[in-house]
Amino acid sequence: MNEVILKNPEQTYKSAENQAKAYFQTLFEQYQEKTFVKKLIHDFQIWKKNHVFSPIVPFFSKKEAAAPKNHKQYVKWLIKAGQLERYLHRSVSYIFMRDLGKNINEPETQKRINAIVNELRKNLIKETEQTKQMSHIYHKTFDWAKIYQDAKKDGMEVAIIWLIEKLQHVAKLIPDGMDREEAQRKLIKIVAGVLIQEREDMPTDLSPEERSKRLNRAIKLGYAYGLTYPYIDDLLDSNVLSEVEQSRFSDLIRTTIITGKAPELGEWSGKNKSFIEQVYTELCNAFELIQQNQRSETKEKFYEQAYIFFHSQEVDRKKTLANPNYSNEDLFIPVILKSSASRLIVRTILSAPEDKGFDKRIFYYGVYNQLADDLTDMFKDLESGAVTPYTYYYKYHKVRSDLINPFALYWTVIAYLIHNVYQSDDLAREVILNRAINSLKRLKVRVGNKKYKEIMRIFSNFDLQFNKLIQSFVDKAQDVDFYDKLLRDQMIATLKNEELAREDFSKIVKAVRKKINFALLIEKKNEIPNKTIIDAANYSLEGDGKRLRPIITWVMAVKEYALHEEAIFPLLKSLEYMHTASLIFDDLPAQDNATIRRGRPTLHEVYNTAIAELTGLFMTQKAVEEQTNLKNFTSDVVLRLIQYSSETIQKMCVGQAMDLNAKGKHLTLDELNKMCLYKTGIGFEASLVLPAILACVDEKEMDGLKQFAKHAGIAFQIKDDLLDVEGNQHLLGKPIGQDEGNKSSTFVSILGVEEAKKMMWEHYCLADEALQHLPLKTPFLKQLLNYFVHRDH
Ligand code: IPE
Ligand code: IPE
Ligand code: MG
Ligand code: MG
Ligand code: MG
Repeated sequence: MNEVILKNPEQTYKSAENQAKAYFQTLFEQYQEKTFVKKLIHDFQIWKKNHVFSPIVPFFSKKEAAAPKNHKQYVKWLIKAGQLERYLHRSVSYIFMRDLGKNINEPETQKRINAIVNELRKNLIKETEQTKQMSHIYHKTFDWAKIYQDAKKDGMEVAIIWLIEKLQHVAKLIPDGMDREEAQRKLIKIVAGVLIQEREDMPTDLSPEERSKRLNRAIKLGYAYGLTYPYIDDLLDSNVLSEVEQSRFSDLIRTTIITGKAPELGEWSGKNKSFIEQVYTELCNAFELIQQNQRSETKEKFYEQAYIFFHSQEVDRKKTLANPNYSNEDLFIPVILKSSASRLIVRTILSAPEDKGFDKRIFYYGVYNQLADDLTDMFKDLESGAVTPYTYYYKYHKVRSDLINPFALYWTVIAYLIHNVYQSDDLAREVILNRAINSLKRLKVRVGNKKYKEIMRIFSNFDLQFNKLIQSFVDKAQDVDFYDKLLRDQMIATLKNEELAREDFSKIVKAVRKKINFALLIEKKNEIPNKTIIDAANYSLEGDGKRLRPIITWVMAVKEYALHEEAIFPLLKSLEYMHTASLIFDDLPAQDNATIRRGRPTLHEVYNTAIAELTGLFMTQKAVEEQTNLKNFTSDVVLRLIQYSSETIQKMCVGQAMDLNAKGKHLTLDELNKMCLYKTGIGFEASLVLPAILACVDEKEMDGLKQFAKHAGIAFQIKDDLLDVEGNQHLLGKPIGQDEGNKSSTFVSILGVEEAKKMMWEHYCLADEALQHLPLKTPFLKQLLNYFVHRDH
């Protein structure tokens, strides 16, 4: 079947171009007549009353005026200065104009803006009051627990879990030649934008179920659309693909938009093969998701806007700075088109009601943002050779006097928005001028004074008086900040920190694993007459185990408690011996009857059941022997440790018995939790408690560690149950589907995948909560917890 949805894409693009040309023509006339300058000078006279103050009556004292960078401190500062409300009002109004295409002076819109401002204000004030312990470590990385809990309040947890998994996947897939943080940031931004839009468009009388259904759907649709930014636009802008690959890839996208059906990817070879396959599959899934949720009324418009968006980007991408002959229309029309189409699309994938004037406002607005962004990115674009109105003007303004100065056109658009689109509305003037001055302030900070001056020398010579005025505002204006910018900065910092923290975690895990592997094998002493059991033990130990339990112990002992590495090595070995023994027993025919473990045949398969049983027993005793080698500690302490570790093994046996007894039975949630605590959580608990015993930590801290271990351990087991259905056998080193084959009672078999994931995140949050009360020096346990729920093996 070869249904074509866009019968005449060239025509679609042409008519959009004509609309853009008409807009451009209007702007061009105002630009030429320079009427915008006069209008804006007048606007600024009104505006400055609230933003520029004579030095005699300073708005704030000098000290206070230096707004702090840190999110929390900044909000505190706003509260103290009595500015929070204004700040939020302006920020929310801006989003209502830009993203929702609202006419902000309508009473209904005003009411919504005020309601949101109020809600935000309350939340922010509350946030500044509660100071989480250890925030100096944790505030810099994502607070997944908070994100999950906030989402839960609106019944969005299923989609949020889904999104978290998707973001992890994107982060893993994005290759080095592209910006990983930027990809994630854009996705989060688009999802947030779509979510806001859906929220604003929802009738207020919806049932909570229907509300949550629509919000969940909005998150997924937001992701589906957002994915086009990293996976289409940024990918084609980067140098990751060869020229041939780029053109093949963009043909696929084009065909998909025109026919409404994604073609087969076809054979792909070379180093990008696996990357492209994954990107394309995910794009196809996203496309299908949008199609499945599409309403017939907006279907055609979706394809039209998608095509305009895609094609205008392509047109821009094909330009080169070496070509001296582009006309002003060549430069500006695609900019107008892509910036408006990218926003108009959002509306077509949601079931939003018609909003009079929406299309027009969005259409006029887009180019304003684009011209602000392109100015900010000019040096970056120059480096990569990208043609934007700014880079082109920068290069050719001396030889091409006909070229439109994009900075002057930017101000023309601003005047047009204030007076033509928003009919000289006071709020529109206040918000847009604030935004414009704020952008320049940010630009100056970002590129530094010297470069800023250079930019302004080239671009702001269209009217010297106007420029002088603007620059004085850039230097002196106050109260021009925006909340979305704060969130943006915070997001970028958080994403960077998150990546660094993850890298650190994985580095330390790798390094410690290597040390442990090196010392793990059991020595074959000469006097032993038969070495079978030792060979068997070493066979199990040589498998590709993650060594998590001794790694946890190493980090806690060495990094948190400053114990000597050599002094605790016997404990590390003993932990891995106990754990490996538990796996040998777990795999036996009488238990889970598994044939593969740690990527190799299970021990009883290689030897036999009897040898496997004896080896398990041997190793648990070997573990005790190792513990008696903890020579640097007093015998009291070592005795306590041995006692605790013996209890651990006993409890794990109880847990396994519960597990086996539960086969085919429908356990309650309580029973599931208990079983997982005993069979898995307790083992992790030991890896935290045993080093704590050696370090003689107090009872309170001990309890905190147990609390953390309990919930982290259960989360780990739920993930293990999930991987048994969703995982990859090759990565796991053990077969999938074992639980189903054994009729085992697991979180997944009893609750289903979706609910099991919710439970995993519930335990994540509880473990995170426990962490808040622990006086830890390193973010290791936090990262460990993240790893537990995100791991793929
Ligand atoms: C497997 O533990 C048994 C469970 C508690 C689910 P691991 O997943 O830590 O196994 P290895 O040590 O890496 O093989
Ligand atoms: C085992 O749980 C828990 C142990 C401590 C042995 P599972 O039976 O789910 O572990 P796998 O999936 O076989 O590793
Ligand atoms: Mg089992
Ligand atoms: Mg098993
Ligand atoms: Mg399992």
